[in-house]
Order: sequence, then C-alpha cells, then structure tokens
Amino acid sequence: MASRTKSAPRAAVGAKRGAPAVLVVHGPNLNLLGEREPAVYGSATLGQIDDQIKALGRELGLAVETFQSNSEGAIVDRIQAARGRIDVLIINPAAYTHTSVAIRDVILAIGVQCIEVHLSNVYKREPFRHHSTIADVAVGRIMGFGADGYMIALRAAQNMIAAARAAAHK
Ligand code: DQA
Repeated sequence: MASRTKSAPRAAVGAKRGAPAVLVVHGPNLNLLGEREPAVYGSATLGQIDDQIKALGRELGLAVETFQSNSEGAIVDRIQAARGRIDVLIINPAAYTHTSVAIRDVILAIGVQCIEVHLSNVYKREPFRHHSTIADVAVGRIMGFGADGYMIALRAAQNMIAAARAAAHK
C-alpha cells in the first residue's frame, strides 16, 4: 500500500492555512478504554471519547482527525503522513510515552506543535511512568483529568492556532 506520506497534497487544511487542523493520536491499549482498569482510566470507551473530541472540534471550528494504534511504527507513520497538514498534534502515547525515541523524533522531524495528554496523573503512579520522552518537546502536558484532558487540549490547541496565525499576519 502506498504510504500517505507520498500522496499528493490535499486541499489546504491546517498547517497555517485553511481550516485549523488537529490530529489526536491514542497509543497502545487505549482501544480497550471502558474495560481497561476503569478505576484508573474511567468507564468511557475510546469511541465515546473520540465522538466527544469530534463534537467539540466542530464547535471550535477545528478539523479534527483521531487515530489509535497499538504499534509504535504505525503511530510514527500516521504522524509523518500529517506533515504540513496539521497545526497541532494532541497525543497520548500511552506506554510509549515512557520508552519511545521514535515518537519524540517524528514530532521534531515534522516540526509540529504538540500537546501531551494522559488520562491518569502519571506522577501518582509507578516511578517508571514519571519519565516522558516527549515532555520537553511538547508545548504542554495535561494529565489526571480523564477524558476531559482531551477537551482541555483541544481548547488549548484552538488558542495556539489562533495566536500563531495572528502572529503570522503581523
Ligand atoms: C496513560 C499513562 C501511561 O503510563 C499508560 O501506559 C497508559 C495510559 C494515561 O493516559 O494515563 O497506557 O498514558
């Protein structure tokens, strides 16, 4: 299958022109939300969270796409495919938060503004969850608010995009 990275550029969406565009990426095991450790991650399914993300995106005038994968390479491929097409990446890399140099590298490689989200407050949990490979390349991090964290991130993304576009037109 041809990689989306090589396909022709789409109509102007995101990346400084057109409708502000946001990609929301969910990492491994987040497809199991709803049944996975509900005391830690809440009872909403990923489908319900994505519906909420898309509804708020519409309200805020953002073109929002969501993506989940259990595979590090697929996440890197999806972010590469968004190169030049999105204004902000919102990502919960899940377990890859703590290990992935590849996800950190692709964020730097495509030069996208990034917001890191976690459902749980990782600092209340095991020490191995305290390290994030992307914390210092993200604009900011939101954690501990459950699925609301994505909604907070979307509002922050909208403000970031408005500020960046206003600065570009000065
Ligand atoms: C998580 C926290 C990670 O430590 C964990 O591996 C996850 C989910 C969160 O959203 O709280 O899978 O990113």
